[in-house]
Amino acid sequence: MDKKFIFLAILLLETSFKVANTEPTEDKRALHDFINNIYHSRPLNWDENLSACSNWTGVTCNHDNSRIIALRLPAIGFRGPIPSNTLSRLSAIQILSLRSNGISGPFPSDFSKLGNLTSIYLQSNNFSSLLPLDFSVWKNLSVLNLSNNAFNGSIPSSISNLTRLTSLSLGNNSLSGEIPDLNIPSLQLLDLTNNNLTGPLPQSLRRFPSSDFSGNDLSPENSAPPLPLILPPSAQPSKKSSKLGESAILGIIVGGCVLGFVVLAALMIVCYSKREGENGVLVKSQKKEKPAKKAVSGSEDKNSRLIFFEGCNLAFDLEDLLRASAEVLGKGTFGTTYKAALEDATTVAVKRLREMSVGKREFEQQMEVVGSIRHENVTALRAYYYSKDEKLMVYDYYSRGSVSAMLHAKRGEDRTPLDWETRIRIAIGAARGISHIHMHAGGKLVHGNIKASNIFLNSQQYGCVSDLGLATLMNPIAPPVMRTAGYRAPEVTDTRKVSQASDVYSFGVLLLELLTGKSPIHATGGDEVIHLVRWVHSVVREEWTAEVFDIELLRFPNIEEEMVEMLQIGMACVARVPEQRPKITSVVKLVEDIRRVASGNRPSSEIKSEGSTPTLTPPAVEIGSSSVPS
Ligand SMILES: *[C@@H]1O[C@H](CO)[C@@H](O)[C@H](O)[C@H]1NC(C)=O
Ligand SMILES: *[C@@H]1O[C@H](CO)[C@@H](O)[C@H](O)[C@H]1NC(C)=O
Ligand SMILES: *[C@@H]1O[C@H](CO)[C@@H](O)[C@H](O)[C@H]1NC(C)=O
Ligand SMILES: *[C@@H]1O[C@H](CO)[C@@H](O)[C@H](O)[C@H]1NC(C)=O
Ligand SMILES: *[C@@H]1O[C@H](CO)[C@@H](O)[C@H](O)[C@H]1NC(C)=O
Ligand SMILES: *[C@@H]1O[C@H](CO)[C@@H](O)[C@H](O)[C@H]1NC(C)=O
Ligand SMILES: *[C@@H]1O[C@H](CO)[C@@H](O)[C@H](O)[C@H]1NC(C)=O
Ligand SMILES: *[C@@H]1O[C@H](CO)[C@@H](O)[C@H](O)[C@H]1NC(C)=O
Ligand SMILES: *[C@@H]1O[C@H](CO)[C@@H](O)[C@H](O)[C@H]1NC(C)=O
Ligand SMILES: *[C@@H]1O[C@H](CO)[C@@H](O)[C@H](O)[C@H]1NC(C)=O
Repeated sequence: MDKKFIFLAILLLETSFKVANTEPTEDKRALHDFINNIYHSRPLNWDENLSACSNWTGVTCNHDNSRIIALRLPAIGFRGPIPSNTLSRLSAIQILSLRSNGISGPFPSDFSKLGNLTSIYLQSNNFSSLLPLDFSVWKNLSVLNLSNNAFNGSIPSSISNLTRLTSLSLGNNSLSGEIPDLNIPSLQLLDLTNNNLTGPLPQSLRRFPSSDFSGNDLSPENSAPPLPLILPPSAQPSKKSSKLGESAILGIIVGGCVLGFVVLAALMIVCYSKREGENGVLVKSQKKEKPAKKAVSGSEDKNSRLIFFEGCNLAFDLEDLLRASAEVLGKGTFGTTYKAALEDATTVAVKRLREMSVGKREFEQQMEVVGSIRHENVTALRAYYYSKDEKLMVYDYYSRGSVSAMLHAKRGEDRTPLDWETRIRIAIGAARGISHIHMHAGGKLVHGNIKASNIFLNSQQYGCVSDLGLATLMNPIAPPVMRTAGYRAPEVTDTRKVSQASDVYSFGVLLLELLTGKSPIHATGGDEVIHLVRWVHSVVREEWTAEVFDIELLRFPNIEEEMVEMLQIGMACVARVPEQRPKITSVVKLVEDIRRVASGNRPSSEIKSEGSTPTLTPPAVEIGSSSVPS
């Protein structure tokens, strides 16, 4: 017999022998020490002779069964404290869920050895006493749920060291003291409700809705609605620093108050003189108007004024804008957007940008590119303002709000669901808008921040994209998980390094969001923080069911075929490998065809009468590509 063959056979035998018998012996022992030393009202089938990896309830092993990486034991009826030196020996564990039990005692101090933990679910137990002081030991922690316990003391500031944290739930405890400045860009879900927290709300957490902090005793001036954009007549240069500290808006107002009145006065002179010459309409886009700027020479910030784009019939100046009453519309990736109602009844959306990584010149160049885009599916940039302290962008205002609000606001309550027609039009419009952007500037322009909260409905009720071209200008948002992670293509590790292919990915996520009615990242209330792309993939992989679709869509008859069509496009767009994603131009055609397929030669009612439900075949996408960017 061939020796080689025998050797191979031995190898194969050994391998299969090994696979069949490998067990995480040490981890098993640790679990036994745990279960034998804690009261539990429900029995567990943790038989020593059975495989922990394939038979033990709640246990998940790694690929070669050498270590336990997840332990999920919700509602087993545990009582009393976690015995020390038991679970803490599961050194490879990543997910630990002991929620909804009656575990008491302090947070186990030896859990600090479990440095690989990414998710800790200990909510709805009877834990008490202080939280661990040093959270930095869990460098990879992304979900921490300790709500519904009796933890007391203050929130440790070391939580701010958890750079991958996406979800922090500490509601329904007895935490007191001030909330530390948790400047964690990746943080998406926060719940500090019903504690005994006091003091001001730190700046870094003001992007979260006030409902996340209800049931505490925070200083009222910080939970009050933002101040309107009113230029205080008494604003004095000397007040600059304190005003900035007090309110972001006042920052706008006195942006560079050092120059304050001088510049404003100069501006007014310029504006009024221009108004006379231009029939009351202040329009600027060509460099030809340089002479006018001379009027403010002598001021260091002489170009700090609203720069309008051609074709814009808005007639106001910076002072009018600052006088406008304003309300916060949303806090986004690159800054906060306000609705500003001017005295002449014009309403605009004003975006106040965060720190930028580029200088004035580069900013202005990009604004010229972005401002020159006029397309029915791209929100027009009307004007911008640049000074050392303030960067503003002025857009049209859409009273119906963003697609994100239309999809997610007031779910479960009495609301009009977003119908399928509109969702298709949103998809078509957004795709056309992105396609137009991608063809602009010699095919070099990238949107960079496509998400439902940046899509609006234009007058024809088609999608219309906003907020483009900023990604490359702004300071990068800390990796590995950015605020927009749910829309971000896996290859984008630096928020500035966006590409047209990553735009297509984000658009794909938007399609999935329109179909499922689910946010790209959302909590289920149980053990999971769901990443939409991964979830859709898993539903497709497990069993191709209609479960993936938004229940609000189920009331619309005969749209299954169209939904499946859109799902396939969405999944092609979120291909892990950028080169495998379609170009946006072909996506436009595909999305437009959804309707054509249905309203064309085969009306959906006909399909129904034939009794043939559309075949739900998984689209040809690489299922293994579903891992989340993390
Ligand atoms: C497990 O195996 C040991 C010896 O192999 C045996 O004595 C014991 O009864 C077994 N336990 C169960 C529950 O089968
Ligand atoms: C243990 O798991 C294996 C694989 O899933 C299964 O074939 C076997 O029947 C299970 N044994 C018991 C006792 O549940
Ligand atoms: C939690 O602890 C309190 C007293 O500390 C006790 O009265 C209560 O029964 C406990 N709850 C559970 C679910 O164990
Ligand atoms: C994390 O897990 C790996 C194996 O998966 C292990 O080598 C490493 O020691 C673990 N890290 C910690 C801090 O326990
Ligand atoms: C954190 O996760 C990364 C990969 O996700 C892994 O390489 C690293 O070892 C983990 N760090 C710790 C401290 O476990
Ligand atoms: C926290 O609760 C424990 C008992 O559960 C108590 O001994 C301790 O004094 C409390 N600490 C604070 C700061 O309230
Ligand atoms: C964050 O971690 C570093 C090093 O691990 C430590 O020096 C620092 O004190 C921690 N920050 C907080 C707020 O605990
Ligand atoms: C806090 O408790 C209230 C009342 O029991 C409950 O409605 C709420 O969901 C709890 N909050 C959290 C974060 O679990
Ligand atoms: C909240 O804190 C205040 C002051 O520290 C204390 O007087 C009060 O009893 C606390 N309330 C609760 C519900 O813990
Ligand atoms: C944390 O636990 C509470 C109570 O079970 C739940 O309502 C909340 O959704 C959980 N948060 C996350 C992010 O899973």
